Amino acid sequence: MCFHYQGGELYAEGVDIKQIAEKVGTPFYCYSTDKLTRNFEAYRAALADLNGTVCYSIKANPNLSVVAALARLGGGADVVSAGEMYVALKAGIPADKIVFSGVGKTAQELEEAIRLGILQINAESAAEVEMINRIAVAQGKKANLALRVNPDVDALTHVKITTGTKENKFGVPWQEAHDLYVKASQMPGIRIAGIAVHIGSQLLDLEPFRLAFTKIASMVRALEADGIAIENVDLGGGMGINYNVELPPTCEAYAEVVRETLGDLHKHIIVEPGRSIAGNAGILVTEVICAKSNGEKNFIIVDAGMNDLVRPALYDAWHTILPVTKQGIAPIIADIVGPICESGDVFAHERIIEPVQEGGLLAIMCAGAYGAAMSSIYNFRPLVPEVMVHGDQFAVVRKRTSYEEMISGHALAPWLQ
Ligand code: LLP
Repeated sequence: MCFHYQGGELYAEGVDIKQIAEKVGTPFYCYSTDKLTRNFEAYRAALADLNGTVCYSIKANPNLSVVAALARLGGGADVVSAGEMYVALKAGIPADKIVFSGVGKTAQELEEAIRLGILQINAESAAEVEMINRIAVAQGKKANLALRVNPDVDALTHVKITTGTKENKFGVPWQEAHDLYVKASQMPGIRIAGIAVHIGSQLLDLEPFRLAFTKIASMVRALEADGIAIENVDLGGGMGINYNVELPPTCEAYAEVVRETLGDLHKHIIVEPGRSIAGNAGILVTEVICAKSNGEKNFIIVDAGMNDLVRPALYDAWHTILPVTKQGIAPIIADIVGPICESGDVFAHERIIEPVQEGGLLAIMCAGAYGAAMSSIYNFRPLVPEVMVHGDQFAVVRKRTSYEEMISGHALAPWLQ
């Protein structure tokens, strides 16, 4: 068990969370190496007979140790910026296992990707294909290109993380993709490597995947009939996870859909899971600053804020919140809120929870993906430490930012000196 209670105390693998809090202070993120490994291996095992590569989506959690743990397991990376490409390479992921996605890659970023000869650049428009060709020609190279096609399939997920419908900014429109492939295949700086699709995140239903993959299979057939060979079929992000009462499909069930829709094409299958690798492998630990009641409502005010974990404020996301020390006393109903000067800085509304007093610790669960990754220094609060656990060991894998570091890039304008 990765996060579990032992004698009423929450543990990450073999390490007492309270012990970490004493060492590093709060708030902090805590990741389980074992859980990351299991989540990764579940995809790899399910896709083994499909010639699959698991390209972990760095955006979910770009911590160097998190990425390195997955690199050691043979993982590739899905990156959306030169910064993420840098982290992937630093963590030991070879360039030929990196795919570069994103709706607005800059010329500089593309230059770097082409220079490195990465596995595949997923282009999202005709203009981007032209730019990639120009840069590759200037470097005397051929860029490995895929088109990210927009299959116009509704992923049935939160509107802010739906990407595969006509309404969204993402991908090459379905009707234009074939012609653009033909055009791109004639460009001197382009080598057609594959096709890519990503319809959204936190998907809990396999049907949208099935619809999208079926469309992709038909496009691959049509392209190959026109002499355009496709090697890699990149299926985008992975499945949703259980934050509360969700029942995400298993990796085996997902792989079965891939097999049924694309299996007979015998392509190299790429998947780009982020949330389902890192999400339940991480928690955010926070200390209760104080508890108060206004007669109608109870508030538990904690030292983590929306700058540390923005998902509840941004997506109304549910994160289970557990006391680090279980006392076995009658629960109350309380809003669990951060210290930020915004009404939206609320982790949980009217949550049933054991009363935790000043100085007590709470764990915000399933915060390993899009947690630290989306944090900011709003209210001039330091980025919190990230700790990684492995068996009975733990290590600080990102230290808390100091005020000096936070202000180091600032300067007084000459007229203020
Ligand atoms: N590939 C592409 C092209 C993507 O845009 C994404 C996520 C992924 C892969 C990874 O998807 P996953 O396996 O994690 O579902 N901040 C939001 C999630 C944004 C997802 C953006 N793209 C959240 O906290 O829910």
